Amino acid sequence: MSGPALDFAHLHTAVADLAHVGAIDGGGCARLALTDEDKAGRDLVVSWMRAQGLTVHVDAIGNVFAMRPGREEGPPVMTGSHIDTVRTGGRFDGNLGVLAGLEVCRALDAAGITTRRPLCVAFFTNEEGARFQPDMMGSLVHAGGLTLQEAWAATDGEGKRVGDELKRIGYRGSMTPGTIRPHAYVELHIEQGPVLEEAGITIGAVTGVQGISWTEVTVSGTSAHAGTTPMRLRHDAGYVAGLCSTFARRLTQDMGGAQVATVGANELRPNLINVIANRARFTLDLRNTDEALLKEAERRAFAFIDDAARAEGCTVERRTLARFEPVEFAPDMIDRVEHLARAHGRSVMRLPSGAGHDAQMMARLCPTGMIFVPSVKGLSHNVAEFTHPGDIEAGAAILLDLMLELAQS
Ligand code: GLV
Ligand code: MN
Ligand code: MN
Repeated sequence: MSGPALDFAHLHTAVADLAHVGAIDGGGCARLALTDEDKAGRDLVVSWMRAQGLTVHVDAIGNVFAMRPGREEGPPVMTGSHIDTVRTGGRFDGNLGVLAGLEVCRALDAAGITTRRPLCVAFFTNEEGARFQPDMMGSLVHAGGLTLQEAWAATDGEGKRVGDELKRIGYRGSMTPGTIRPHAYVELHIEQGPVLEEAGITIGAVTGVQGISWTEVTVSGTSAHAGTTPMRLRHDAGYVAGLCSTFARRLTQDMGGAQVATVGANELRPNLINVIANRARFTLDLRNTDEALLKEAERRAFAFIDDAARAEGCTVERRTLARFEPVEFAPDMIDRVEHLARAHGRSVMRLPSGAGHDAQMMARLCPTGMIFVPSVKGLSHNVAEFTHPGDIEAGAAILLDLMLELAQS
């Protein structure tokens, strides 16, 4: 019996093969949660799991768990991530973590190693939250933070329900969510930001995930003729949305530090050149590593939105789409990632995650950690998302050793 070695060529090929499903121009992927493309991606990955001899379980929110038995029964060491993407996604976000987990199992098979604890490779439903909110939906349900009924009732922009779409694509499974409680959870992911690349560092030992606040804002005004309506008589919902968008940037400049703010979706009605908009619907994404500061950002943004609408004679409705407090990972897991990176001769730094991850939900259940590898130019949620093969290999090798360490102890 020799030590396990990852087949990196196989891992890179798997990433490329999965990226063919829902492929879009520029090398990216569009596999929005519970669409036909998501189903095709799921079917492919499940076929790989079965071909590897793993036992596949699907729960009622469509999370998929592939089990590799250990010498002992009991809670598995779990890894994984998601394979859904935003509509303009890259090929690495989420996918890398799932496929690297499968590669770890292949390496152990090839080396003839049965670990003491079982292993589990999971992919969770609707991590992205681009079609249905909240994001991290599958892992949140798994962790008990959202009921199955609430998750099933979530609708997309066309009114389609998660529960119906799960059934339609054949992934409303029979397992009760939360059944598989891990001994520990570890997730390999691309950083999706510029920090590691700018610092010239290969491995991120992730300290936690910043708080996330998602709000949908609907401003209602009055449609009128763009040429005849004096400026003083307008109730222009589009104008209010524009002001709020500008304010979001100004807020981050005022607050400084880690505060970020994005108006990523903005829809006017009737959306015509010569008609004042009677409705503007936009989203506000606020994030901060500090909960008190995130609350302050929310307070200031919401007050601005309400005041801007009132001044224009418009009404406003706000709806919370997602709200997660900042999460800190287990110190022992952060230490392990850092030590292993050093043992592998890799440069390493500690950093918080700017993006949301399934790991932040799993942290409610068990000691959780994440390994980041650099994103070229910090790009993600963009078809140009790229991570150098050598960096992927460095991260996957640390994932293998970390899973072994956790599964043998
Ligand atoms: C989800 O992945 C997010 O961070 O927006
Ligand atoms: Mn992701
Ligand atoms: Mn993403």
